[in-house]
Amino acid sequence: MTTASAFGKIILFGEHAVVYGRPAIAAPVTHVRATATITPTKDARVWIDASDIARRYALDDAAPEDPIASIIRLTCAQLGVEPRNFSVHIHSTIPVARGLGSGAAVSVAMARALAAHFNRTLSAVEASALAFEAEKLHHGTPSGIDNTVVAFEQPVYFVKGKPIETFRIARAFQIAIADTGIAAPTKIAVGAVRRAWEVRRAQYEAWFDEIGGIVDDARAAIERGEISSLGSLMLKNQALLQKIGVSSDEIETLVDAAIGAGAEGAKLSGAGRGGNIIALVSDETREEVVRAMKKAGAVRVMVTEIRGQGSGIRGWRSEVRG
Ligand code: MEV
Repeated sequence: MTTASAFGKIILFGEHAVVYGRPAIAAPVTHVRATATITPTKDARVWIDASDIARRYALDDAAPEDPIASIIRLTCAQLGVEPRNFSVHIHSTIPVARGLGSGAAVSVAMARALAAHFNRTLSAVEASALAFEAEKLHHGTPSGIDNTVVAFEQPVYFVKGKPIETFRIARAFQIAIADTGIAAPTKIAVGAVRRAWEVRRAQYEAWFDEIGGIVDDARAAIERGEISSLGSLMLKNQALLQKIGVSSDEIETLVDAAIGAGAEGAKLSGAGRGGNIIALVSDETREEVVRAMKKAGAVRVMVTEIRGQGSGIRGWRSEVRG
């Protein structure tokens, strides 16, 4: 039996605009994860056991758009092996369709577990590329940020089609992640933005440019340790996300609750129209902000600390706090 896992993620700044070539910043969330287990069998058919959604089915019978079947086929093709004589079990603690990268995490966990099962190694670049292929089948036009941050397990400054880039976190900061309880598939929000962009291209491009500028300002602030300026940048980013049509009443309610309770900034994170919001908190404000967001309807709140130990890839991690 072989098992592998992959963490969830949050987008700190730049979602949606990143699909159109602007930069975005994202970080792993290490307190939620997807786990894939491969068990050798004598059965030529591959059985998929997705216990979280109470489904057990054969790979051959899977619908063409089935995400788990797709990543199994893609990974086996990459490894040059036949998908046979094993069963897979998938379990995930990452809420689905909430902007936390559950799809990418399931794909990366599965690719890693299959590679281990066949005694092969898969680099982060390869795992990311496989998950990206699977994302394309299901999300249409993904930027690639989800699979990148999930496969590399470190915060990234991401530009579509460019190599992964990291940067220095001069001072740690805390992010509260609050779930609206509303599942909002990425594909639907991304598709809606695309249709609106087709109709009002110049306006949307201008908004995306503004978001790209905010991302660069946020990166500079993080590198200089000016954490308090991140709050206003989050609010500016949120105002633009509202304009491009991906906020919702539930998101605004949680953002208002966080700000009312002392958070320096808050915004939706991921595709929007539901899913999670993130709020910038500190030791002084954390408890009050978490309480206020729960009172305002958040079904779950996690707090992550994002910090660096010097610069470079190994200097990044996020961890549970509070
Ligand atoms: C989803 O986590 C982020 C979006 O920007 C889509 C993407 O980048 O593929 C909404």
